[in-house]
Amino acid sequence: MRKIVAYIGSRRGESSNTYKFAKSVLDFVSANCDSTYEIIRPEDFLINECEGCQVCFREGYCIKDDDIKLIKNKLLGADFIVLASPVYVHNISGDLKVLIDRLGYWTHLLKLAGKGSAVLTTNMSNGHNTALNYLEMVLTSLGSQVVTKYNASSHYPNQLNDEKWIKASSNIIGYSIIDSLEHGVKSTQKLESLFLTLKEMMIKYREYKINYGEWSYWNDMGYFDCENFSELLELQNRSACK
Ligand SMILES: Cc1cc2nc3c(=O)[nH]c(=O)nc-3n(C[C@H](O)[C@H](O)[C@H](O)COP(=O)(O)O)c2cc1C
Repeated sequence: MRKIVAYIGSRRGESSNTYKFAKSVLDFVSANCDSTYEIIRPEDFLINECEGCQVCFREGYCIKDDDIKLIKNKLLGADFIVLASPVYVHNISGDLKVLIDRLGYWTHLLKLAGKGSAVLTTNMSNGHNTALNYLEMVLTSLGSQVVTKYNASSHYPNQLNDEKWIKASSNIIGYSIIDSLEHGVKSTQKLESLFLTLKEMMIKYREYKINYGEWSYWNDMGYFDCENFSELLELQNRSACK
């Protein structure tokens, strides 16, 4: 059975618009595809702010001891990831930004390669494009294929209180997620170009003997032997079959 992990960046629990919108999508997916989902909420975990020590970039791990390890394990164990956030002043919520900062070094390690993802936001009327595009960029930088991004507004237009709109949109988003779960992840131009940039950077790190944690991870994972991101996905599939 396939597993979806959804992070909802609102602290309003079950009253949250973002929670309700995401849940409608997730319920549609689990009703139409052999899958389960788990929702992660900020109030259930202690995730401290990044202090900027940059040990993670040098050594490949974070020294802070809080619930980030639990969240990392959930993300790594997922087949598909949903990042959902209310729009706060034209961007994502602070909770989700803190989480993303703590995962920052994963963007050099392509830790979410091989996983599909979706980005959802809710707002009153504006600012969603900045938030959606930012989340899409973050997930792509983590190596994930973003298959859909979608906003639901409460005021202009009034979509969140329109049951028909919610149902139709949940179906559209849900089918994109199901397609990814059933047919697997594909490479994209953005992922290919990201891979080449990172590979060049890692080759330099290895040559200059800096940021050992990062290039040794690339080495251990066999990423240096891949010519492109598609080969990395093939390598992952071969390892999963062993
Ligand atoms: C601090 C704050 C900033 C907000 N900024 C925006 C905004 O820039 N644009 C907008 O349309 N709505 C904005 N909103 C409204 C929320 O995005 C909207 O009500 C959202 O659906 C709340 O999601 P939630 O119920 O999941 O917490 C803001 C709300 C708060 C609390």
